[in-house]
Amino acid sequence: MSEWIDAAAVEQLPEGGRWLLRRAGREIALFHVQGELYAIDDSCPHAGASLATGAIDGGFVTCRAHGLRFELASGCMRGGAGLQVRTYPVRVRQGRIEIDIAPGG
Ligand code: FES
Repeated sequence: MSEWIDAAAVEQLPEGGRWLLRRAGREIALFHVQGELYAIDDSCPHAGASLATGAIDGGFVTCRAHGLRFELASGCMRGGAGLQVRTYPVRVRQGRIEIDIAPGG
């Protein structure tokens, strides 16, 4: 079952933008990259550093702590093996960005 929560207004996240959402005990990083919206846990699965401030390059975010790279779409570490950060479905409804935080979503 889905559990969509309001994250931000569309205009708050222009192309190239990022947004840190704190809601319901979670910290979720949103990115607007190459026309797509992505939402991932703002906690690197390596050692917990924030990913919201990581460098974005070609659909990947690089953790500033130790340089691991994660694909925004899948959450998988570059190279396919190893660590994975949780991703969340994102949609836009009536000018608002929404994220599905349902378990396993
Ligand atoms: S905490 Fe992110 S790479 Fe180590």
